[in-house]
Amino acid sequence: MGKAKHKTAGIAVDKLSQEQALAELKWLAAEIARHDALYYRSDSPEISDADYDLLRRRNEQIEARFPSLRRSDSPSIKVGAAPGDGFGKVRHRVPMLSLGNAFSDDDVVDFVARIRRFLGLNEDQPLNITAEPKIDGLSISLRYDDGRLVEASTRGDGTEGENVTANVMTMPAIPETLNGRDLPTSIDIRGEIFMAHADFQKLNADQQAAGAKIFANPRNAAAGSLRQLDPSVTAQRPLRFFAYAWGEAQFLPGDTQTAVIDAFKNWGLPTNPEQRLCENAEQLIAYYREMELKRATLGYDIDGIVYKVDRLDYQERLGFVSRAPRWAVAHKFPAEQATTVLNDIEIQVGRTGALTPVAKLEPVTVGGVVVSNATLHNEDEIARKDVRIGDTVVVQRAGDVIPQIVSVILEKRPDGAEPFAFPTVCPACGSHAVREKDEKTGKLDAVRRCTGGLICPAQRVERLKHFVSRTAFDIDGLGDKSIQAFYDDGLIQSPPDIFTLEARDQRALKKLKDREGWGSQSARKLFTAIDARREIPLDRFIFALGIRHVGETTAKVLARSYGDITTFKTAMIAAAEGTESEAWLDLNNIDGIGETVAAAIVEFFAEPHNVKVVDELLTDVEPQPLEAVAAASPVTGKSVVFTGTLENKSRSEAKAQAERLGAKVAGSVSKKTDYVVAGADAGSKLTKARDLGVAVLTEDEWDELISRQP
Ligand code: IVH
Repeated sequence: MGKAKHKTAGIAVDKLSQEQALAELKWLAAEIARHDALYYRSDSPEISDADYDLLRRRNEQIEARFPSLRRSDSPSIKVGAAPGDGFGKVRHRVPMLSLGNAFSDDDVVDFVARIRRFLGLNEDQPLNITAEPKIDGLSISLRYDDGRLVEASTRGDGTEGENVTANVMTMPAIPETLNGRDLPTSIDIRGEIFMAHADFQKLNADQQAAGAKIFANPRNAAAGSLRQLDPSVTAQRPLRFFAYAWGEAQFLPGDTQTAVIDAFKNWGLPTNPEQRLCENAEQLIAYYREMELKRATLGYDIDGIVYKVDRLDYQERLGFVSRAPRWAVAHKFPAEQATTVLNDIEIQVGRTGALTPVAKLEPVTVGGVVVSNATLHNEDEIARKDVRIGDTVVVQRAGDVIPQIVSVILEKRPDGAEPFAFPTVCPACGSHAVREKDEKTGKLDAVRRCTGGLICPAQRVERLKHFVSRTAFDIDGLGDKSIQAFYDDGLIQSPPDIFTLEARDQRALKKLKDREGWGSQSARKLFTAIDARREIPLDRFIFALGIRHVGETTAKVLARSYGDITTFKTAMIAAAEGTESEAWLDLNNIDGIGETVAAAIVEFFAEPHNVKVVDELLTDVEPQPLEAVAAASPVTGKSVVFTGTLENKSRSEAKAQAERLGAKVAGSVSKKTDYVVAGADAGSKLTKARDLGVAVLTEDEWDELISRQP
């Protein structure tokens, strides 16, 4: 065959149309793969190295001009990549969120009441809410430009997913073009890819006959089928799709959830026929009961019901908390249960020294997943349930939560089974493990903690794992196993060591690439992944430090309030001077920071070794101020206090809106307050604002201020 050419190979890259580019990239991927195989596998190249390089260069140039067309099997990402590593990354223009959970009817009643309160609706104002099955598959975002599918990406961590365009293009369930005349120039359609029961059973039968991998459940089968490096494998898998949400859109074809999903259907996208519009909590619960019965005959797995506020203007006003919308909730079906034998109880030491008992079980299938570990929470829980090694126990698994031990089947207890003696020394370092007493309540903490601090290797390793984890520094290639191995060999003992790893490796006699399980490719990849994090958003940096009680949300609040790392660090060290210090009062005055949290942060910075770690990190890492979300709003960075009764919106809505615009909402008035927004019957805060000379606004004046162009 020799030097083949694609029909558009003669056209300059900057003259190619999108369709031509798409076709040529496809051809290039196949052609380069063919030459790779000829060269590497059969040692019989058909073209010169120079011509081969020209093909690769052409591929790169087209990709540089049309980044969204890059294929998951593109030669530019495929080189030497191990299977599973071969997908490019896609940043979601609008994050893909998760959902809060409801477990009982009461939770549903609360959900509706909370929304009514937030929106300030009175009894005669209707609030429509949709109900639909929560599909147990994997979520996907599909970008359509002018009605043509141009990119598909998995959820990933919600911010960045994997580019699975080439695979999704092979799915008959997902249209390559949308029908209709008034289509947005661009829209991200979101939904779930899943496999039906019947298709799953047939696939597994075929796999078995072929001696190939058997999938544990339809969800795994769908995920495995989508994440194939070879799209022609995906093409043969019976994957289905329902559209139920969207991301960025030039415009939306309706102003309610129902209208938009209906339009999706008219555009040719599959949507779930089970969706229903409800008017109150009773109707939602009735729908849930119906679906519980219908579940077995649907033909695909669902793990609950999703409720969504129908009006999009309400959705907008309700906004988000952390990673989940306030306007939607997942009402979960009860957990599935099974019985098995408890072989052992292992004590794990967490990054804050907490001793957690883990049940080691005889493997058992619960709701389609093999379970061999379950949590036992803490020692009181073990005592309360009187769980003993050798017991037969009931395990339960609900959705994505960690399996739990529900109870013991006493009739099956073996003779001689002893009550479990919870250790009072740390199994990792031998230090005393104690239960702290709460100063205020005088109650013992449920958790026993190792007092070894930094001398405890388990705590140090867990902190490292937390530091590199997905929601913290997110360093690809530094999984739990590598962290443990690097720690054991003295390569990485604390976070700053991560950033000097490459420099030390260059001088080392035994290089990373020569370690077992590593090679020059994977070592290079790791160093690149580490380098990519030398700049990191400030909130991730703070979260990664692993300060007790500081989760992702608190880290964001801190990053937003202090702006940059130096200001934050200086303020925290100053706050340690005492509860009278201005820095301490400021910290406590931040909305969302309670006393326990404030104390934990200050305690962290009062430890010289922690400050040393932070300082060392800062020689190699540059935390970036939070993405200027609404940088240019007139109230960005301003400190606001709401007081009194507001007319147009509830206090929570006012607060959420102010935060969305980049303002800091505080609970009390100080010299640093920029605005006090006073509604009816405002009391002492208003007086204080006047005393201090702080600007006081009426609600209307505030609304006017935030609606102004920056
Ligand atoms: S709506 C902003 N609707 O559940 C809200 N999600 O726990 C977007 N899921 O990652 C989600 N069925 O993968 C929605 N009918 C449905 C769903 C659904 C399944 C999944 C989705 C999401 C997860 C959230």
